[in-house]
Amino acid sequence: MTSMTASIANFTFNDILLNAAGVYCQTDEELDQILKADGAGSLVTKSATPIERAGNPGVRYADMPLGSINSMGLPNLGLDYYLDYTIKHQSEKPLFLSIAGLSKADNLNMLKEIQASDFNGLVELNLSCPNVPGKPQTGYDFETTAQILEEAFAFFDKPLGVKLPPYFDIAHFDMIAKILNQFPLAFVNTINSIGNAMMVDPETDTAMIAPKGGFGGIGGAIAKPTALANVRALRQRLNPEIKIIGTGGVKTGRDVYDLILCGADLVSVGTTLHQEGPQVFGRLKQELADEMSKKNYTDVTDFRGQLQTLA
Ligand SMILES: Cc1cc2nc3c(=O)[nH]c(=O)nc-3n(C[C@H](O)[C@H](O)[C@H](O)COP(=O)(O)O)c2cc1C
Repeated sequence: MTSMTASIANFTFNDILLNAAGVYCQTDEELDQILKADGAGSLVTKSATPIERAGNPGVRYADMPLGSINSMGLPNLGLDYYLDYTIKHQSEKPLFLSIAGLSKADNLNMLKEIQASDFNGLVELNLSCPNVPGKPQTGYDFETTAQILEEAFAFFDKPLGVKLPPYFDIAHFDMIAKILNQFPLAFVNTINSIGNAMMVDPETDTAMIAPKGGFGGIGGAIAKPTALANVRALRQRLNPEIKIIGTGGVKTGRDVYDLILCGADLVSVGTTLHQEGPQVFGRLKQELADEMSKKNYTDVTDFRGQLQTLA
């Protein structure tokens, strides 16, 4: 028997896979499919804003040879919708509620509503969201990130984690980890899409997506090395109590294995779930089990965080 479980805060996950926020999680119908998918140990809801948003118009997601590019513009049905869904189903599995305010006040107000509600799962605060005009997204604005967490933890006492954008500089790994370690975070989820990339359609010589003049976040296979580096760098720097959800570039069971080797507790799947649908979890679980048996491992704890480096 292969054991693939994980724990975050006081929750035990009977499988380590889940959807990445934004994929198969906007409506009840989609969420229900993840909830009952073979191999999925949890789900996360679409990042919510205080009220419903239609998102960006036009072609806003495209597959590309090594993954996907998107600029969705946070289409979602509003916090109350996802709060109702998760409260209704929270006795079945531990669930994640993702929020993405368009301002600090939005985020704090949503956390206040969640605090006052019957929700008893985990909240994922998506820091890849717009900030003050002229400043980078919140996750790249270290001062604002610290300020939001300071103000949030002054009243919020349910399990809270953050979804981080990818970092590309060793000094930035040090800086973000130093801030996160000051707070009683249950987890970090890394990485969000690699932001503001561009892809050209060779048939038409146009950008592949319509919003923002074609600029969009990329995910899928192309994101895997960046995801591995971010999981590894944060696992090396964060307090051990802060668990890690590894996201980015999962296409096969070996990709899941590699994220665990770098330190991931849970692993989430975005682009490949978008492309294959919820049956992807059963396939990935089987491929991970095969990979583990090749190495004579019976439990994910046998190799979690055990990446070796070359001398
Ligand atoms: C269509 C789409 C919508 C997304 N929406 C969100 C979102 O609402 N909140 C969020 O935190 N991440 C969002 N993401 C990012 C994914 O959760 C994930 O971090 C990223 O795609 C990398 O994973 P992947 O390589 O498996 O795609 C979205 C990604 C895609 C493809």
